[in-house]
Amino acid sequence: MLSPKFILPKTKHDVFVHKTYPYKAMDNFTSTKHDNSQNSDHLEDLVVIEYEDLMIDPENATLIFHPLFSKAFGGLESSNPSTSSHAPLGLIAISGIPSFVSQKQNLFQKVYELANLPDSYLETNLTDPRSMYNAGWSRGKEKLGDKPDQHKASFYFNPVTDLPGSKEDREQYPTSYPCNLWPENSLVEGFKDSATGLGCLMKEVVAMFAGHLDVFVRNCHINQMKKGKDSVDIDLENLKSSFCMSMGKEMEQTEKVKGRILYYFPLPKKGLLSSVNKADSWIGWHCDSGFLTALAGDAYLLHETGEFMESNLVDPQAGLHVLDRNSIVRKINIPQHCMGIQIGECLQILSGGMVVATPHCVKGADPNWMNSSNECENMPVARISFPCFIDTVPSFSLSAPKWCPRNVVLEKSIKSNKIPPLEKRWINDGMAFGEFLQKTFSMYYDWSLKV
Ligand SMILES: [Fe+2]
Repeated sequence: MLSPKFILPKTKHDVFVHKTYPYKAMDNFTSTKHDNSQNSDHLEDLVVIEYEDLMIDPENATLIFHPLFSKAFGGLESSNPSTSSHAPLGLIAISGIPSFVSQKQNLFQKVYELANLPDSYLETNLTDPRSMYNAGWSRGKEKLGDKPDQHKASFYFNPVTDLPGSKEDREQYPTSYPCNLWPENSLVEGFKDSATGLGCLMKEVVAMFAGHLDVFVRNCHINQMKKGKDSVDIDLENLKSSFCMSMGKEMEQTEKVKGRILYYFPLPKKGLLSSVNKADSWIGWHCDSGFLTALAGDAYLLHETGEFMESNLVDPQAGLHVLDRNSIVRKINIPQHCMGIQIGECLQILSGGMVVATPHCVKGADPNWMNSSNECENMPVARISFPCFIDTVPSFSLSAPKWCPRNVVLEKSIKSNKIPPLEKRWINDGMAFGEFLQKTFSMYYDWSLKV
């Protein structure tokens, strides 16, 4: 039933047929409308692409990626999402990344060891108040609503460098340029190498993906302009050169990378049922406010023993939920062999709304859930996940393409009262990324108290 080793579940959720375009990730999510937890008849929509296709020159890969990116992120079709039967999720999965699965297994096993180090060691040696807990261990330092969040712990690190920015940067902006803290190797052997190795791999894949996204967004704008004019009047070369989104290069060169390893503690069985049943009981509703987020996927385990669990033993509603372009809540299962990439709000701005950030949350495993044979009774279930946020320097200017008015970007946002509106945080075209983040963090805190 359970194995001390990491299990790759062999369920129907992990069965794919590749090499046929467009890729279709059959059966790998269920759908719920407005938190009603009703399964949908639609079993499609998480787009899966192949790593080896990312190695093709982006200019020569448009026939492969344009339809897939349109389906995943919107593109031109996003201007009228209500007519789309398959609303974009703002998320894509990448299969076939060399050594990704083995590196993930290796790291996740060590995360359990980290989370079970004595509290006194974690608090004394691995927490960093100066960076506002943006480096090392953080539990109970963030708020969930108006209370300290004890339901999960985070370990923050930069996989690219232990000392980001210049000495002056680090002194002036300790929260933007936190220095890494690592557990002693004798306590969790190989943790630093595993964490940085996987984080760098994920960042590298994001940079490759971003180069293709640049071409996709540029072509969407060109196609949109062609629709409005006689195509013979379009100076394609001029249009290409005036489009300046270059995320491929930015993502490749940046050292602003924040890895966040999450250990979600089992939710209490009694006393907090209202919290357990909430869709966002492990992580509240939010949009990623940066550029691109790489997702290593997740794993469930028994908190008391560290044994990883088969998927049929885990509450099927636990995990990542997103609000799609039609404002429908969907449960997402990123296949174990895939890395996910999620669009952040900065990319929505830079792309002029051709790709859109989608609100998402993480629902806790219901401690009262059990499968039909009651195998899961009284099993406190924990979860491990590892998102890695790939961003730019705080001074980066958040500007839409010059022909794209600010209101067009804002109109593309998914309509929801779950998160503070983008227009109240991106208050002017050209706002610096660092300023946008500060505004966003303060508004989210106030918002979480209201809803
Ligand atoms: Fe997120």
